[in-house]
Amino acid sequence: MYINFWYVAARSGEITFGAERPVKVQILGHHFALWRDRSGKVCCISDTCSHRGGALADGRIRGDCVECPYHGWTFDAEGQCVRLPSLGRDAKIPDRTHVDAYPVQERYGLVHVFLGDLPEAERPPVIDIPEYSDPAWRFITLEMTWNIDYKRSVENTMDPGHNEFTHPTHGFLGVKPDYHVRDFDLTDQVWGTGFFIRMDAPTLAQRDMNAAAGRSGDKWIENGVGNFGPHCTWTYIHPSDQAQMHGFAFHTPVDEVTDHIYVLFGRNFLGDPKYDQTFEQRALYVAEQDRYVLEPLRPKLTPPQNNREFFVPADKCIARYRDYCQQWEQRGWRIDVARLRADRDTVAYAIPSPARRQKKGWVLPAVPLLQPAAAGTAARSGKA
Ligand code: FES
Ligand SMILES: [Fe+2]
Repeated sequence: MYINFWYVAARSGEITFGAERPVKVQILGHHFALWRDRSGKVCCISDTCSHRGGALADGRIRGDCVECPYHGWTFDAEGQCVRLPSLGRDAKIPDRTHVDAYPVQERYGLVHVFLGDLPEAERPPVIDIPEYSDPAWRFITLEMTWNIDYKRSVENTMDPGHNEFTHPTHGFLGVKPDYHVRDFDLTDQVWGTGFFIRMDAPTLAQRDMNAAAGRSGDKWIENGVGNFGPHCTWTYIHPSDQAQMHGFAFHTPVDEVTDHIYVLFGRNFLGDPKYDQTFEQRALYVAEQDRYVLEPLRPKLTPPQNNREFFVPADKCIARYRDYCQQWEQRGWRIDVARLRADRDTVAYAIPSPARRQKKGWVLPAVPLLQPAAAGTAARSGKA
């Protein structure tokens, strides 16, 4: 798990102004309190109260602030303690009482929170999806929770060898004697890699879909896939030049073995909302086929060295994705999950927020990160 990326915390509609209590979410193994203030802005602070560890999200919203349910300390959207009732009315509030507050932006109907301490100019962006606001496109939003290391699912998206066997809807279960994965070239960008490839695919089950996609019988489909950061993927499915589907998965690591996935699934054909259910059912059906193979994978976390698995050329995008993750680890962004696990019942950590670069004196220690010098091993890249 990595700090310094934007993670989806909720759908916009789940954070409503006028709610009695904040919404509590868990990301990167930590809890957060989210609420919408009077100006309509979504606020996000660390859930752990700096007094004696109360859960702020279980408290009440007071104006634009949140009041701890334990002794009433009240925090604003910047994480400043603005009321400390036991000291009395006019007491000066000690400086060190502040908690971490995180940047928030709403895009594509989702609330994205920046969990890290990078200043604004250095932050990776949220993936750009220009077709989301294009009237020729229609998007649906799906959500699911899987018992996996989220990186396993990112790797699965970029795995052209699995479709034939994991998805009988997309392939032929290997019965065609000439089946093989065509060679493909990777295109590297700043925040991820990806590739385009042609895949043989069977006739679609629904007649409407077949007709709209310009399909008659089995044929190849143009597919494009890639990652954006450690936790987001894009998938282009182009059954014909005219009919296109674009999917974007935002993986929210609840913890290292629990993946909450938000999927935006768009199409530029059959745009009538009456087809939403058809697309939703099909997407969930296919996702379920992936979940079936991913949850039993061992080890649960992607192994630290590629030679603990045996890579073939079809796995080369996965190897490249792991190289990107290695770079983010070398920047000091990777959480030391082993230490986090070992300390779970004894230390309350916080994901460091941008204010930690300016202010000294925080009650909660920042989450342990793998130190770049000791991070990973040089043998990370496998043969592919
Ligand atoms: S623990 Fe939050 S006010 Fe005491
Ligand atoms: Fe799949």
